[in-house]
Amino acid sequence: MAEWKVPISASLVLTMLLACLHRAYGYPSGAPSSACSSLTPGHMNSSSGQPIAPQTLQSPYVIKVQPTKYTPGQVITVTIESSIGFRGILLQARKGTTPVGTWQVAADYKHLNCNNSGDSLTHVNSSLKAGGTQFSWTAPSTLTGTVKIMATFALDREIFWTRQFASVADGAEQLSGGCATEPCVDGLCFQGANSYICDCNSGFEGGNCTDKIHSPYCQDGSLCGVGGTCFQQSNPVSSYRCVCETGYRGIECMTKVTCNDNPCINGGTCFNRHAGVGYFCSCPSDFIGTNCEVPGNVDCCFQLSSVVSPSAKCVFLKT
Ligand SMILES: *[C@@H]1O[C@H](CO)[C@@H](O)[C@H](O)[C@H]1NC(C)=O
Ligand SMILES: *[C@@H]1O[C@H](CO)[C@@H](O)[C@H](O)[C@H]1NC(C)=O
Ligand SMILES: *[C@@H]1O[C@H](CO)[C@@H](O)[C@H](O)[C@H]1NC(C)=O
Ligand SMILES: *[C@@H]1O[C@H](CO)[C@@H](O)[C@H](O)[C@H]1NC(C)=O
Repeated sequence: MAEWKVPISASLVLTMLLACLHRAYGYPSGAPSSACSSLTPGHMNSSSGQPIAPQTLQSPYVIKVQPTKYTPGQVITVTIESSIGFRGILLQARKGTTPVGTWQVAADYKHLNCNNSGDSLTHVNSSLKAGGTQFSWTAPSTLTGTVKIMATFALDREIFWTRQFASVADGAEQLSGGCATEPCVDGLCFQGANSYICDCNSGFEGGNCTDKIHSPYCQDGSLCGVGGTCFQQSNPVSSYRCVCETGYRGIECMTKVTCNDNPCINGGTCFNRHAGVGYFCSCPSDFIGTNCEVPGNVDCCFQLSSVVSPSAKCVFLKT
């Protein structure tokens, strides 16, 4: 599994954008030029008519750069670490807000020319690309200052992460004070009056950017079945745990609960639906919910729902 860092600052940006899995409005053949500045796919939600928002939880991708400092014209290897892979990507190296340098085109990828030829890279189709994929970026011959590799990654057209980054420091910059020992492992060092501060890359945190931030996204959406959410475990790092929704069970939430699992509580009576498609609980009058787990009365709730907020909870008062 990868390592994660949490980022913040300087200038090189890598962005990856999205792909779209056989669904309308995606970009199966690469990010459009409209994504050059925003680094956001702009896929539309057909029911709301609004652009789909990026994921807000920690991304399952980490960007590693080697070497972590550059000289003008130098080739930097950018590795995407991930246990789950991606379908869409948009990559840039940014100095401030401008993409700089040139990406080498590997099979399955192509240039997106944002401000200059070859300054951005994107996918050519929506096949799943494995973690560990490497890209090469060549720094411009006159560049000075920190550059930020920035990426947008898409798992499918609805699930994507924007503005993931890793910094590449200017090798000619003199580091003083605490920064002289290069303490920031996955981040950039800034020297203050009395101490240094590390600005961590995406997916890392801690004073020296050595602590990985774990992502709750462990596998291509289907790992925890249709009825579960996958959470990365920190120890061992490659393991995961599925939290199943009501009606599903099993390590990967792939098994539908049936009456054999005795799901109905509080005196509910269980009826199997057709073979393998779940169950139904008939609850006593003072309980409701899929498994009769909620104290309440179905008649009272039915009547109240027209006069109070739909999110209000109807509680049956025992007398
Ligand atoms: C699309 O919009 C609908 C209605 O606003 C919303 O319920 C749904 O979660 C949205 N889907 C995505 C992927 O944003
Ligand atoms: C780069 O291109 C974007 C539009 O794609 C434009 O807004 C921006 O001003 C350009 N930047 C430079 C430095 O040319
Ligand atoms: C994507 O492109 C690669 C190579 O260009 C090819 O091997 C693969 O089959 C393609 N996948 C799809 C889903 O078109
Ligand atoms: C960061 O690394 C320095 C040595 O390079 C060490 O003295 C310091 O304790 C470390 N800080 C943290 C928060 O780990």
